[in-house]
Amino acid sequence: MDVTLGTRRRRLIGTAGALLLATPALAQQANPTKTKATEGGITATERLMRDSGLLLRILAIYDAGGRRLGGGEDIEPTIFTQAAETMRDFVHGYHEKQQDEYVFARFKKSGRMVELIDVLQAQHAAGRKLTDRILELAPRSATKNERQAMIEAMQASSVLYRPHVARELTDVWPALRTLLTPNEFDELGTILEKDEVEKLGKDSFDKMAKKVEALEKRIGINDISQFTPKS
Ligand SMILES: [Fe+2]
Repeated sequence: MDVTLGTRRRRLIGTAGALLLATPALAQQANPTKTKATEGGITATERLMRDSGLLLRILAIYDAGGRRLGGGEDIEPTIFTQAAETMRDFVHGYHEKQQDEYVFARFKKSGRMVELIDVLQAQHAAGRKLTDRILELAPRSATKNERQAMIEAMQASSVLYRPHVARELTDVWPALRTLLTPNEFDELGTILEKDEVEKLGKDSFDKMAKKVEALEKRIGINDISQFTPKS
């Protein structure tokens, strides 16, 4: 009796083992020794979320700057030039290129969320135009008309990107995992990391975040407790 059960158990274990090896995703789960998380890196989704967060912080600079300029304050134009340069170099030149090349292409190939992806890509192009406009107007914003035109371009960026980023965070980035095997998802994290170094250099996110933080200080929004409603 014991011998029979032992044989059956061995057969079941053998079958399960063969299934694991035949299914790449399951095989990796059985041997989860090397992933982005265990290597101390960040996953593709974590990177996309992190970079989206920096974009939102640039929008907060646009919003606060626009409000203060609209209220008649004199603000150093280089704040807007530097914020728009960060938008151009970090958001358009790196973050959105990664989305277009490595993320949206996969959704289109698999026929998932294609309509939404088309809209998001058209919005990237529209965002670049608004950034060019801010860069063009910021040095000349001493005159009333040009200052107003720059405020409108910054407001348009905010109107464009807030729902854009929200949709990516809730719909697109979470669905990315479902298009890939665990190995492919892990590999994408490595590809995006390498791409960041090639496009922007080593430790570029930390440098960009420090640059944004310095601009937040100059425009007076670095202490976020000011946004808590007073009871
Ligand atoms: Fe995007």
